[in-house]
Amino acid sequence: THVVLDSCIRCKYTDCVDVCPVDCFREGPNMLVIDPDECIDCAVCIPECPVEAIVAEEDVPKSQQQFIELNAELAKEWPSITRTKEPLPDADDWKDAKSKLDQLQR
Ligand code: F3S
Repeated sequence: THVVLDSCIRCKYTDCVDVCPVDCFREGPNMLVIDPDECIDCAVCIPECPVEAIVAEEDVPKSQQQFIELNAELAKEWPSITRTKEPLPDADDWKDAKSKLDQLQR
């Protein structure tokens, strides 16, 4: 599967969802996740994200391993998103922030 990492939090640019051929993105209040049961590892979403939040599972950095489980868990709770929309209003203020996990809204 592919995994949405920390960088997405408080940004949610949503460029990724338009290109997904299997509609595997799920939308939370301030982050998207990928449903690992749906993702076919096509990788087309990777270059779409302006903050490089998406990586293949094997490329998840050590410091962000918890996002593998978090994507799987939240994908079961959040609704599907299939169309790109406006990013969060202050996305550009948060795009360079590090370690935003404490900002995640469920
Ligand atoms: Fe998030 Fe990047 Fe998609 S910021 S919503 S993973 S384009």
